[in-house]
Amino acid sequence: MSDDTVELEARLEEQEAFEPPEEFVEQANVSDASIYEEFEENWPECWEQAADLLTWEEEYDAVLDDSDAPFYEWFTDGKLNASANCLDRHLDDRGDEVAIDWIGEKGETRTYTYGDLHREVNEFAAALRELGVEEDDVVTMYMPMIPELPVAMLACARIGAPHSVVFAGFSAEALATRMESADSEYLVTCDGYYRRGDLLKHKEKTDEGLAQVGHDVSDVVVVDRGGDEYDHDLADNEHDYGDLVAEQEGAEVEPVTRDAEDMLFLMYTSGTTGEPKGVKHTTGGYLSYVSWTSQAVLDIKPDDTYWCSADIGWITGHSYIVYGPLALGTTSVMYEGTPDYPERDRLWEIVEEYGVDIFYTAPTAIRAFMKWGTEYPDGHDLSSLRLLGTVGEPINPRAWKWYYKHIGDESCPIVDTWWQTETGGMMVTTLPGVGTMKPGSAGPPLPGIDAKIVDTKGDEVEAGRAGYLTVNKPWPGMLRTVYKNDDRYISEYWEEYSDSDADEWVYFPEDGAKIDDDGYITVLGRVDDVLNVSGHRLGTMEIESAIVGVEGVAEAAVVGGNHPVKGEAVYAYVITEEGQGEDDAMRDRIVAGVEDAIGPIARPEQVVFTPELPKTRSGKIMRRLLEDIANEEELGDTSTLRNPDVVADIQAKVGDD
Ligand code: WTA
Repeated sequence: MSDDTVELEARLEEQEAFEPPEEFVEQANVSDASIYEEFEENWPECWEQAADLLTWEEEYDAVLDDSDAPFYEWFTDGKLNASANCLDRHLDDRGDEVAIDWIGEKGETRTYTYGDLHREVNEFAAALRELGVEEDDVVTMYMPMIPELPVAMLACARIGAPHSVVFAGFSAEALATRMESADSEYLVTCDGYYRRGDLLKHKEKTDEGLAQVGHDVSDVVVVDRGGDEYDHDLADNEHDYGDLVAEQEGAEVEPVTRDAEDMLFLMYTSGTTGEPKGVKHTTGGYLSYVSWTSQAVLDIKPDDTYWCSADIGWITGHSYIVYGPLALGTTSVMYEGTPDYPERDRLWEIVEEYGVDIFYTAPTAIRAFMKWGTEYPDGHDLSSLRLLGTVGEPINPRAWKWYYKHIGDESCPIVDTWWQTETGGMMVTTLPGVGTMKPGSAGPPLPGIDAKIVDTKGDEVEAGRAGYLTVNKPWPGMLRTVYKNDDRYISEYWEEYSDSDADEWVYFPEDGAKIDDDGYITVLGRVDDVLNVSGHRLGTMEIESAIVGVEGVAEAAVVGGNHPVKGEAVYAYVITEEGQGEDDAMRDRIVAGVEDAIGPIARPEQVVFTPELPKTRSGKIMRRLLEDIANEEELGDTSTLRNPDVVADIQAKVGDD
């Protein structure tokens, strides 16, 4: 390192606050700090600003209806169609502009202008209708990052059929449970896709999943991604996507008029207990909210080239690859593969080649880039970048500064955006053209968002003290319920801090956080039994039940251990049944059991066999202790355990592996 660099590193390390560059502020969509006050004084009407970004077929009557709180309704009686907002209204001015620049892992590319996307969405919408899909039928999608996924989502939106996208990396069983929970009779999938040069036979996994669905699945549409590389049969109710679209060449489907509160999609996510929850998002509030945040936080303008490297199978991809950016009519890059294939500079090569202006990724990716070293970004011209973003988990100041310096060249603001599947869009972050950035802290709540940090009783904690994050006013992008389970909606999100007698409703996201004197929030992580592995949300209960389902396993406890790249890794403590081997074969069966039930993302990093689990006298497993053991941290007082001796045994075993 040159002296200059050393000096620079030292300065960066100490610096705790960063101002957005003047050049950025001058062109920012939002650059006036008065927006915070304006929204506060004019709440909830302030959210008309978000609704104004859309084209409505019929104006709404009220911005917010809270008469049945916490079953809030937004933009009541407004009518619109999401696909018309993402496509049709751009055709006159931007029909020939690129909507999606897709890059396959093998290097092939496909470019969809707004006109192209509109055409294919119409054709596929016509095909879905011909298969019998009706308004309000839930269509499941089990697809990787190929353009047919956003096409299928928008085709569903066009005909008013909610979609339920299942991440392609989830297992067959996970697909089946989600289809069952949603009573979904239609599936759009693909035959295969590429990962590090190999074709993954997705169709086989799909078939396995379909075999486990308890009801009749009426039709399955299969995109041919594998081409000649992968021959497979289609059953009678299975159709080739290409054939269906070709049969509908030139078809036009009038967008169905949807009520603002009609469901746009379902997204399953993990919670503390039981099966994944179907988070229900509706059309008007969600689309307004993701459009507004795309504009205000991601600073997206129609002429930008924008890239969010998330997977559409998660909420980030829904909100900030598909709906937000397309509603604003911008050009997006969509990439099928992994960041390190064929080389570790793949992403930077793409940024350079496509002249990406805005790049949105996850801390886990940034930590991997750091580990790989600066030579990969340094080898590319990244000067097109104007704004950087992160989402999914806390980003530590070191990673933030690395991103700021080595990707942003100290000239791009970073937005560290806290939000959840349930919130629909961003909730806590700086506005890049307004706020000072503080590495490690996401920032203040967005204008119109009323977030507080409270103690267990619900009283606000003082600055600097850890507490629980709460949201005290509703917002347009919020979930409306847990699909077909209003009770669970209340018990999971509203029971903890609300005073229902007084009709005061407080949303609890189950995250710990602290706030500083300037109102900046640092999110500390989940306070429930949910792990955040590479930014993916996994329920410990789901993993435990998969492990206990393995023959020969008596009991299991799963916790998160710190991991330098993944953030958290799955640690499984397992008690086997009498006479069962505690060997590699057993370990392999446990790992396979988790992969079958959930998917490789939930694979345990360590399986520790133990004769007992540390329990309180009342028989509760002391997970916190197991977590400390996984993290090789000092253990507190263990004398209150029913079985204190077991701790040393387990510690020794974790160390061994
Ligand atoms: C965590 C992803 C700290 C948090 C959009 C939340 C974050 C969970 C951040 C939601 C952030 C997300 N800083 N933590 N910027 N963003 N989280 O539903 O624990 O997959 O509750 O939504 O991720 O994960 P989900």
